[in-house]
Amino acid sequence: MKVLVVGSGGREHALAWRLGRDGAEVHVAPGNGGTAAVATNHEVAATDVAGQVGLARELGVDLVVVGPEAPLVEGLVDALAEAGIPAFGPSREAARLEGSKVFAKELMAEAGVPTAGFRIFDDADAAEAWCREAKRPLVVKADGLAAGKGVVVAKDTAEACAAIDRIMRERAFGEAGDRVLVEETLVGPEVSYHVLCSGEAYVPLAAAQDHKRLGDGDQGPNTGGMGAYSPPPMVDAAVEEAIQRQVVEPTLKTMAARGTPFRGVLFIGLMIVDGAPQVLEYNVRFGDPECECLMARWGGDLAETLLAAARGELDSVRPTWDAPAALCVVLASEGYPGSYPKGRAITGVERAEALGTTVFQAGTRRDGETLVTSGGRVLTVTATGADLDEAAERAYAAVDAIAFEGSQHRRDIGWQARGQSSPR
Ligand code: AMP
Ligand code: GLY
Repeated sequence: MKVLVVGSGGREHALAWRLGRDGAEVHVAPGNGGTAAVATNHEVAATDVAGQVGLARELGVDLVVVGPEAPLVEGLVDALAEAGIPAFGPSREAARLEGSKVFAKELMAEAGVPTAGFRIFDDADAAEAWCREAKRPLVVKADGLAAGKGVVVAKDTAEACAAIDRIMRERAFGEAGDRVLVEETLVGPEVSYHVLCSGEAYVPLAAAQDHKRLGDGDQGPNTGGMGAYSPPPMVDAAVEEAIQRQVVEPTLKTMAARGTPFRGVLFIGLMIVDGAPQVLEYNVRFGDPECECLMARWGGDLAETLLAAARGELDSVRPTWDAPAALCVVLASEGYPGSYPKGRAITGVERAEALGTTVFQAGTRRDGETLVTSGGRVLTVTATGADLDEAAERAYAAVDAIAFEGSQHRRDIGWQARGQSSPR
């Protein structure tokens, strides 16, 4: 099978690696220094819808797998469908589950999905007045896509009002901040739950947990994700059953009833509050770095599975998990998640892989013979094991073999599962 993977992160490297191992001919656009080693890279931007359709047609691919949310929200899957090319991912309408937090919350309310209480505002004064009146910790969210930076968990009213000011008056995220969502603050462990979907039919994947904060002990600014592991022990059989009955099924049913059935992978960000799932957000693509762990554990034929989902033939699909556990650690550039330097030489990737891990690349490119940094999140060092302890030991041994100037990473990935108190 010939497959085109759209995107350029660690997630896309993991997808391309897995597809290639299962025997597919893999192309990636635009790709990165890591995908170049397992697939053929093409210089077409992920959000260049016409360019991606043209490339898929030229290559004569059997399937397009869209990695990031931006091209989905732009309607890439709709354009591919019009061209008669099978694609794994939701339509533009269904991608609004991630593209608009207001859309997502209104859908949750309609479907009766458990989530934090919320109010929607299109006026900064009204939003601030409500925050002052509420007198409790609140979370302020820009409505539209803001590269993960549009959410502020405010510790008091002043911080909530400052967030509203930045989003709505300073327009820090442009029109993504035309509306804000103000919601109650929930407390509990967060988990990532992925389901392959085709309308109301779905196949759950193994649960995972991300680590969003930059520093050990879940301190510091939010990032795209600094490491993940799978499976998380807080998703036991009862919690998983609740997630499927209370969240997945009503969500898919409501999307289908609205005439916008969801196809692709739905990644639900959840908080487990007193043993019960509460939805924080929907994403319409694989999580990054969760995907790296899922692909490391994956047992079946990925290309066949994703094609079956794209065709609405999920009945035959039963994913299996070869590795009992996987854990990954992200190595990021100096200054990330703020601005960061590029072009720093990376050493030790081969040595890390010789230790039995897989190093998925995100912000890298080849400068002649040298691998250099080119993004905020640079590498995702991924290990499997008989259990999470073994996966963590192997991952960190490999992390210690890699070096680039200013490299930063967390030392405590998996702490909630590994019976450790966080170092801080
Ligand atoms: P979101 O993009 O909506 O998932 O929000 C980003 C991060 O903000 C989440 O991963 C949580 O850590 C945090 N967050 C979002 N909503 C809430 C909430 N209602 N209560 C507590 N934390 C939240
Ligand atoms: N790992 C979180 C995300 O992909 O949004």
